[in-house]
Amino acid sequence: MDQRDQRDQRDQRSTNPFTPGFGLTPIILAGRAGAIEDFTAALKGNVPEARAILISGARGSGKTVLLTEFKELALEAGWTDLRVHTSSSSLVDELRGTAIAQLREQDPDAESSRLTSARVSGTGASREVRQRYEGEQEPLTTVLDRLAALTDQDGGGLLITLDELQSVDRDQLHALTQHVQDLIGSGHAVAFIAAGVRPGVDALLDHERTTFLRRAHRIEVGSVDVGTAAEAIRMTIADTRKSITPEAAVLAGEISQGYPYLIQLIGSKSWQSCGDADTIEIEDVHGGREAVVAAMIKNVHRPALRGLSARKREYLHAMLLDEGPSSVGDIAERMNIDPRNQSTYRERLIEEELIRPAGRGFVEFSLPYLAEALRHEDRAGVGADVEPDRGVQRSHRARRSTRP
Ligand SMILES: Nc1ncnc2c1ncn2[C@@H]1O[C@H](COP(=O)(O)OP(=O)(O)O)[C@@H](O)[C@H]1O
Ligand SMILES: [Mg+2]
Repeated sequence: MDQRDQRDQRDQRSTNPFTPGFGLTPIILAGRAGAIEDFTAALKGNVPEARAILISGARGSGKTVLLTEFKELALEAGWTDLRVHTSSSSLVDELRGTAIAQLREQDPDAESSRLTSARVSGTGASREVRQRYEGEQEPLTTVLDRLAALTDQDGGGLLITLDELQSVDRDQLHALTQHVQDLIGSGHAVAFIAAGVRPGVDALLDHERTTFLRRAHRIEVGSVDVGTAAEAIRMTIADTRKSITPEAAVLAGEISQGYPYLIQLIGSKSWQSCGDADTIEIEDVHGGREAVVAAMIKNVHRPALRGLSARKREYLHAMLLDEGPSSVGDIAERMNIDPRNQSTYRERLIEEELIRPAGRGFVEFSLPYLAEALRHEDRAGVGADVEPDRGVQRSHRARRSTRP
């Protein structure tokens, strides 16, 4: 190892190893071993159904991270990735674009040169280079078929991924999955992975033109158990120059309640609180709790509560009177409504992943710190800032201009 590598490694071991941001893959994945094992087997196997996967879960539960992990596994196994975005104006056009770009790279015949005139005495024959995929002539089915055939030959396959599925246009999704089904029907190796939040995805699946997705293998991501969370936090720190005491790791696991986003948040805050010290102690973890709850409210609960109707919000607030699970009878009484109407709200709130059944006739909040988010709404008003930041501070511009 040369000096520079040594320095790089030292820097790496000194920087905060946690990834408390959406779409950022953590160093240690908590609670995904089964899903990864199944997907690895599905890539190798010959059961096409196992390669159509629908990941769902609340914001911050780890959907994008799992989708990315699956994509990386597929790439390592020699598959070709065709990613499409729900934000693009046409999914099928985007698919064509990425497929053609891949073909240009992979198809040995993409560029065929043809001898147009050869003169015996001349120094060079003139050649005409033709780009096979230049024009618009080739139908998408042909393009995909050719690409799939090439990747099949190499023992790979085609992977099509679609994140933020809840915001996709239904007809466009239909057109896209039609192509996927055609490819599978022609015997090609194809995997299709989509991810999205449950309320939107469920609504999409109710539609008749989404049969393909309804049959997909469903993975619901969410909290892992608290012990696994503590272990993930400990292992993340073990790769650095710091360490964490066993009690501190346990407390961090508890504060995270096993929620993937919170595992990263509490880990990151504890690391910061610890400053230059070598060991993260229980006080460092404890000091991070408030900021973690505030971030959860702001980045997960507020977006989910934003569009909630007054009645559903009232339902959630009625649950706040209980320490543990709430009886649905009590909720109806507190809301002053018929128990039958209560069950309509109950069903919708379960679909929206805000509450879950907790034994017969009982419900409870399904996400960590949702009660805190609702109490905060009570105190500060709906949509209020969680933690208006204080103080004034010179920015880097001011610092720069005072430099000699
Ligand atoms: N399996 C996991 N173990 C630990 N942390 C995770 C895991 N999956 C995701 N995270 C972390 O959770 C946060 C949210 O992940 P992301 O995949 O963006 O969620 P989603 O797409 O469901 O909103 C990120 O900070 C990420 O690093
Ligand atoms: Mg995501």
